Amino acid sequence: MIGVFDSGSGGLSVLREIVRLLPDQKYVYLADNAHCPYGEKTPEYIADRCRWITKTLMDKGADIIVVACNTATAAAINTIRKEFDIKFIGMEPAVKPAALGTRTGVIGVLATAGTLKGSKYLASKGNFEDGCRIVEHVGEGFVELVERGVLSGPEAEATVRRSLYPLLDAGADTIVLGCTHYPFLLPVLQQEAANWTSGQEQPCEVRFIDPAPAVARHLVYVMVQEGLLGERQATKALATVVAAEEARALGQPLPPIVRPEIEHISTGDPSGLQNLFSLIFDNLN
Ligand code: DGL
Repeated sequence: MIGVFDSGSGGLSVLREIVRLLPDQKYVYLADNAHCPYGEKTPEYIADRCRWITKTLMDKGADIIVVACNTATAAAINTIRKEFDIKFIGMEPAVKPAALGTRTGVIGVLATAGTLKGSKYLASKGNFEDGCRIVEHVGEGFVELVERGVLSGPEAEATVRRSLYPLLDAGADTIVLGCTHYPFLLPVLQQEAANWTSGQEQPCEVRFIDPAPAVARHLVYVMVQEGLLGERQATKALATVVAAEEARALGQPLPPIVRPEIEHISTGDPSGLQNLFSLIFDNLN
């Protein structure tokens, strides 16, 4: 069984990509929404939450855990890796694909304050700063919007503009979504990026990078390596990885998502998680 967790519903953006590659697995998803947002909390506080969550997911039968939260990965993955005898898959800051794809040489990163201070992000940023400029902004209020299910409309648009426009003003043409909640705001981000003008004649073509597909791929490789998938499952999953990558590269339809066999756990009000879950898995793809 695959355990997946986040401070709230954001990790569903990662679960969606995992289920695309591993439709036949059993899942348990934990939203720690009684303690959300994690963004401004101390690493010690987040590590304590991650310990409790790991125990809960292991008690439920998880044999691998995806930390579908950039902030928790930054604050606590090293700690829980030392303390628990289970494999953890964390979020990766997608600076590399952004650096390879930018045309203006300016990359924007939207993430929480905790992620932007994390050593993993700082190291990955350091690797690419020679070739390009990296500008950052906290997605102020983004997590709260997604938790409330406000994914479009004037409030979402105004909130998105406040954090996105400083990055576009700085010349960013490629923007990393460094928090798993943010992909749910992608349509608004794209719309507001298209509306952004700064005296330029050409419409601004901005590319947003969501690391979730890469994390899902990495999970498949680790599960194969660890013998957590049977031989038939492993062959099927690896073939789906290849098919998904080819489809992405060619702009063709991705392998379909099926509603997974899943248990949800919320530490707070479960309604936000349930709504987003049905939005993803009842309106498939
Ligand atoms: N979804 C989270 C992340 O990827 C957590 C956001 C938060 O709780 O502040 O960082």
